[in-house]
Amino acid sequence: MTSLSRRSVLKGAAALGGTSLFSAPSFADSSLPVLRAAPASAQLAPDGYPSTPVWAYATEAKGRVPGPEIRLTAGERVGYRLVNDLPQPTAVHWHGIRIENAMDGAAPLTQAPVPPGEGFDYDFVAPDPGTYWYHSHNRSAEQVARGLAGPLIVEDREPWLRESGAATRELVLVLDDWLLDRDAGIVEDRWDDLHAASHGGRMGNTVTVNGVAYPELDIQPGERVRLRIINTATDRIMPLSLPHLSPRLIALDGHPVAPREIETLVLGPAQRADVVIDGRIDGETTAGLLLDPGNEEWVEIAEFVVSGDTLASRGSDVRPLPAWGTLAAPDLSSPQREVLLMEGGAMRAMLETTYRESLGFQDLTKHGMVWAFNGIADGMDKPMFQAALGRTVRMEMTNRSMFLHAIHLHGHHFTVLSQSGAANMEGDVRDTVLIGADETVEVAFVADNPGQWMIHCHMLSHQKSGMMAWFEVV
Ligand code: C2O
Ligand code: CU
Repeated sequence: MTSLSRRSVLKGAAALGGTSLFSAPSFADSSLPVLRAAPASAQLAPDGYPSTPVWAYATEAKGRVPGPEIRLTAGERVGYRLVNDLPQPTAVHWHGIRIENAMDGAAPLTQAPVPPGEGFDYDFVAPDPGTYWYHSHNRSAEQVARGLAGPLIVEDREPWLRESGAATRELVLVLDDWLLDRDAGIVEDRWDDLHAASHGGRMGNTVTVNGVAYPELDIQPGERVRLRIINTATDRIMPLSLPHLSPRLIALDGHPVAPREIETLVLGPAQRADVVIDGRIDGETTAGLLLDPGNEEWVEIAEFVVSGDTLASRGSDVRPLPAWGTLAAPDLSSPQREVLLMEGGAMRAMLETTYRESLGFQDLTKHGMVWAFNGIADGMDKPMFQAALGRTVRMEMTNRSMFLHAIHLHGHHFTVLSQSGAANMEGDVRDTVLIGADETVEVAFVADNPGQWMIHCHMLSHQKSGMMAWFEVV
């Protein structure tokens, strides 16, 4: 019995029922189920270690990490009353959902952070099927590191599972990276670590899959399973591989791709991949999900235990996911051109950077700023650009630093037009793109969602130390 099979699966907002488990007198008239953010504890480190005090989301009495799975069908409503029982203000962002601006949870841009003891009603429709997640969007470098993240699964309206060539089952794999001390507590005295922020960010020492270190996952020989893999780490880029399981990629950041074989899969923070695997039929009883922690020494972070009857082959071709049909195609004939220049970090100076006023590098670091977009650190004062509703924006993103960045646009998905590096992602539709040192990526999207939208690096240590801005669709 794996911990996965005990995972609670919530079938759509309607099935969440009332909020009777909670007594929140100030919201007694609410019809929305409660999503509570509160301290909790979780057994993150292997057996024999103490449990870890975390901050967690709860739809039932007990908070868990990752947060409870929210599952619905495309076009359905998600409705929760966030109740904040944390010692800090918070807000929930529904990552990758092309949402109405007021529901985006992007504090302080789209709402004020919710103070301790208070609440906020989130109520929106999720238009596009796919694998998403929700997470804190206030002091996120700290709050996500403490555990405030969970999976949000939007099922297709059209059937796919069990159709010919498709998977017969799916597994959601929430990957996370924790910086734990000897007693398995979260290291708390390094939230302002500028050394980490000016490098690759806050790296953990414990990787969990669905909140468990090194879980075992059951699979039958020949069984075709759809993995919905989500990187919820604050900063860790996760190169992954699934040897002996014939992995084929079918979606990125929720959006379908033509099924393609993959040897390795690099998931930056916030990125998702849907991958189909086939249980090995060569008589071996295990296969691993491997991660490269950065030194190309692949380590197993979860183990598939292959057992039971051998299932009939589903064939070598994998059935593509149904197309979204909801995303406007960019019109590249005369797009609005924008540039996103990433500068800063260790080993490369930032030139002429503005933070509130123009400051030299020394002064910037005193404010905790070590990164800039287009010469501005933490550009929250005014929009980076404005686009008229319905206009195609073509954006050239250039990384002039020594580190990778995971650039995320709120409220939109974009098409990758070109990438100067080796990997070929042309044509992929994403909400978060990983850009290597000295690499340029060009993307395009239709600015069809009105409002104020954040654009930031999803390495949350980088976001916090300057890689933050917003654009406006009017
Ligand atoms: Cu996943 Cu600005 O967020
Ligand atoms: Cu970054």
